[in-house]
Amino acid sequence: MYRWFRASTALFAFLFACCFFLASTRPCVGQTDLSGYWDMRTPNPSGDGTFRDMYFEIHQTGETIDGRLIRGTGGIPITGTFKDGAIHLVATPPAPPAPPAGATAPRRPRRPFTFDGTYENGKLTLEIPGRDGPVKSVAEKVTKEATMPPAALPLPALKDVPDNGLARTPPMGWNSWNKFAGRVDDASVRAMADAMVSSGMSKAGYTYINIDDTWELGRDANGNITSNKKFPDMKALADYVHSKGLKIGIYSSPGPKTCAGYEGTYGHVAQDAKTYASWGIDYLKYDLCSDLEIYKDDAPTLQAIYQEMGEALQATHRHIIYSLCEYGRAAPWTGWGAESGGNLWRTTGDISDRWESMSRIGFSQLKLAAYAKPGHWNDPDMLEIGNGGMTADEYRTHMSLWSLLAAPLIAGNDLRTMSDETKSILMNTEVIAIDQDPNYKPATSVSSENNIEVWMRPLHDGSVAVGLFNRGDAPAEATFKRSSLPPNLAGKKVKARDLWKHEAVTIGADGFTATVPSRGVVLLKISKR
Ligand code: GLA
Repeated sequence: MYRWFRASTALFAFLFACCFFLASTRPCVGQTDLSGYWDMRTPNPSGDGTFRDMYFEIHQTGETIDGRLIRGTGGIPITGTFKDGAIHLVATPPAPPAPPAGATAPRRPRRPFTFDGTYENGKLTLEIPGRDGPVKSVAEKVTKEATMPPAALPLPALKDVPDNGLARTPPMGWNSWNKFAGRVDDASVRAMADAMVSSGMSKAGYTYINIDDTWELGRDANGNITSNKKFPDMKALADYVHSKGLKIGIYSSPGPKTCAGYEGTYGHVAQDAKTYASWGIDYLKYDLCSDLEIYKDDAPTLQAIYQEMGEALQATHRHIIYSLCEYGRAAPWTGWGAESGGNLWRTTGDISDRWESMSRIGFSQLKLAAYAKPGHWNDPDMLEIGNGGMTADEYRTHMSLWSLLAAPLIAGNDLRTMSDETKSILMNTEVIAIDQDPNYKPATSVSSENNIEVWMRPLHDGSVAVGLFNRGDAPAEATFKRSSLPPNLAGKKVKARDLWKHEAVTIGADGFTATVPSRGVVLLKISKR
């Protein structure tokens, strides 16, 4: 007995010493080794019954953890600790690469984010920060293969897809993402269709009700895409929107997952296009997202990826507007966007409801204006007007910039609860007429000095639209000189109208000068008298 006691004490002491000395190099006896690959499943915030998978590679040394959150080819480095069953991880996204030549918006660095939780019975229960507070996720060990993106599939040989004849003027409508994100559902889409008609938006030209990300569930036994429980019957929803005299749009991604982690079209491109057509879909926004984990990020590859869906949509023989969303990474405006069958292409990263975001995007687009043409438009992202993050002057600047740029006017607010001011901005038919001018000619910069930018766009009837913008933080004077008028108006008697005040203004012998509010605009239409 004593000998046994002595032996076990010695063994215990040995193990303790072992732990003590080896603690800095590897997990000790009794300490679980978390090293390996993990799949973390997080329920999507809308409670639609779908999950998002995130994969980790973990290396544990004593109580110290390093590894990576597996994303794309590189991944996001993680560091942390595992002690007494508690785990703490910090993922620090690497600095973004320099934007490619011709890109219009800088790539902004992302902030580090943390995961905290516990380990029990082979599972990690982690809390991760979510849009509406922390979200609980459960991670389990998987093989390395399970964490890897699927294989690249063969892409079509490049060709020039014929113009589908749609979007002769920039598309107008509403999209769910800016206001609803993952909370969009059947009821809210129907309500937006109702409000689009009752508010007068449809009379002003807004036509498309577009469902963005988070409608997807998975695939049925035949590989057909299915919608999740927020959208019980897509065909019935499309019928409802059509019954209001409107058209309906949907969203997907070429890779296995959309940007919000829902089912993409990977391996099912033609089949999904057919499904959309069978539901009665009239508009598709096709968002790059996880495709980047599989394919190269260059113009020929992106052209092939977008062409595959462009051809698939046309093969359905339904008139479906095709909206490319690759954030301007490979300059689709230079030609391949139209060749792949696209009617519009995003030129930047995501807009947000802040002056800095909207003005950075809006004022950087002029150099792309010459690339747009009927049927093929630059898309500097959807409108934020009415979402509450900007002042009325800032929203008038937003609407004026987008209209001078002939950008798609896709409202992103709650159409049921618009203030009169929001309505007056979104439904200013005189400004909309600039956007929708039937003979597109690009706007150009007349002058740019001390926060004052003056832009001019020729219109089909020989008149011009002139925007005098003040990007500064105090009211300032802006001038448009008569000498800046195009030859058909120079030296002629002209009349002018202030399109926000809805009144006539006088162009003097030298031109027009006005005090423009901080971050505001004076928008004129000048025509031959
Ligand atoms: C990307 C797009 C957004 C929106 C989200 C949805 O970020 O740029 O406009 O569609 O995906 O996940």
